[in-house]
Amino acid sequence: MIFTMPATVKEILAAEAKGQEVELHAWVRSCRDSKNISFLNLNDGSCVSGIQVVVDEECRKASPAFAQTDQINGINQISNGASLRVKGRLVASQGNLQAVEIQASGIELLGAAPQDTYPLQKKRHSFEFLREISHLRGRSNSIGAVMRLRNRLSMLVHEFFQQHGFYYIHTPIITVSDAEGAGEMFRVESSGCLDEGRGGESLGEKSAEEKSTGKKRKYFFGQEAFLTVSGQMEGEVYAHSHGRVYTFGPTFRAEESNTSRHLAEFWMIEPEVAFLELDGLMDLAEALVRHLIGGTLRHCAEELELLNKWIEPELLRSLQSVTESEHFVRISYTEAIALLEGAVQGGKKFDYRVAWEDGLQTEHERWLTEEHFRQPVIVYNYPAEGKAFYMKQNEDGKTVRGMDVLVPRLGEIIGGSQREDDYEKLKARMLADGMDPEHYQWYLDLRRFGGTPHSGFGLGFERIVQYVTGMKNIRDVIPFPRAVGQAS
Ligand code: 4AD
Ligand code: MG
Repeated sequence: MIFTMPATVKEILAAEAKGQEVELHAWVRSCRDSKNISFLNLNDGSCVSGIQVVVDEECRKASPAFAQTDQINGINQISNGASLRVKGRLVASQGNLQAVEIQASGIELLGAAPQDTYPLQKKRHSFEFLREISHLRGRSNSIGAVMRLRNRLSMLVHEFFQQHGFYYIHTPIITVSDAEGAGEMFRVESSGCLDEGRGGESLGEKSAEEKSTGKKRKYFFGQEAFLTVSGQMEGEVYAHSHGRVYTFGPTFRAEESNTSRHLAEFWMIEPEVAFLELDGLMDLAEALVRHLIGGTLRHCAEELELLNKWIEPELLRSLQSVTESEHFVRISYTEAIALLEGAVQGGKKFDYRVAWEDGLQTEHERWLTEEHFRQPVIVYNYPAEGKAFYMKQNEDGKTVRGMDVLVPRLGEIIGGSQREDDYEKLKARMLADGMDPEHYQWYLDLRRFGGTPHSGFGLGFERIVQYVTGMKNIRDVIPFPRAVGQAS
């Protein structure tokens, strides 16, 4: 089947077919009228560039849209934000910004945007303001560029895993497990479910209402259910049947972290690989990050230049230095602490104490990546305490085979581990963490029936989008951010 759609600005600019008749649908970005001629800059979201449309006197007369005036202000409705259909001929541009422009023969107004109420003016708006108009902010240059980069990064994720023999599996969004054992979950229930009924198991404490009335909650799913915090456990299941799998889907965390790096709803990429141990996992993580950065540098040059100019002056240099570096630094957690202690002895001041038992704070991670190594760093073999129940315990009895990938400007973008594949050790750690092993028997069973060493990690998709775009706030790299205090 052959089908056609109206050409986009990107397609028209790429074709550069001078002399050709074109029809373009787009929004007005700017409009300059002089006595006999008008210059419009139109953008349709297909690329950073707009295209210049030259409207001469004859075309203005032939286009009723130019006579239509705004009833309030009495001005022409071909104004910033309006949508148009333009017919014309592609000609060599008079200016030197672009090779081609459109010499219009007819202009039709599709939708006006009254200037007294249209919120996006032709000036720089703050990201805070743009967040208040999430239904319109995609039309701004920077958010427009970020969302195209986000699209490219999604495709690069699939490209990478498909090239390396992984199967894409869809793990559930509604779950009855706490995959991180951290309890920061959103409960899922149908809206009319408080009266006496079926009852069921509960992952957590009895609710106050259950304690006082003695009535069991009627659970839609027969037990308490939550929005998933990670697809890892289900990923592990399919790694034990398909070998190499990955998920890429939304995950939810009810942590009340009101920071520039935390969302309540974010997307996570989680590969899980059977027969793979910690070293191989670190290789996989590094290869993925390199693929994503290399791919955006190749495909999104125009967007990256815009962001480098307006958002983060170090952006291009730092991304290039990643692809040019031979390998990411890998250090054990204990080595990382030793380096930080050395820095403190040398006079470096941190807000948080540096101590093996205290863990790494963001400021410590940033010192390692920004000041000391000046590149991404993988830290592995973390203290068991403070890490999730599923990480494989090391022989030393103190550390686990977990790893984090840390990058300059942000800190952690990947967290992962080799998984505990010893049935008894896993069960003992679950009990120690107050989890009910019976509830997770299916997960323990993976260690009973054909268990294998296996490993996986989670890459926070918005974190990598933030890293690659240089955006300061994670809420500006997802179309509709959901975070503590924000869901619109
Ligand atoms: O380190 P985390 O919590 O690891 C897991 O969830 C594992 N189950 C993943 C796995 O092994 N399959 O989260 C993984 C990554 C973090 O490194 C971070 O990039 C991102 O997810 N992340 C968040 N991104 C945005 N907002 C939040 N609230 C995030 N919490 C974690
Ligand atoms: Mg983590």
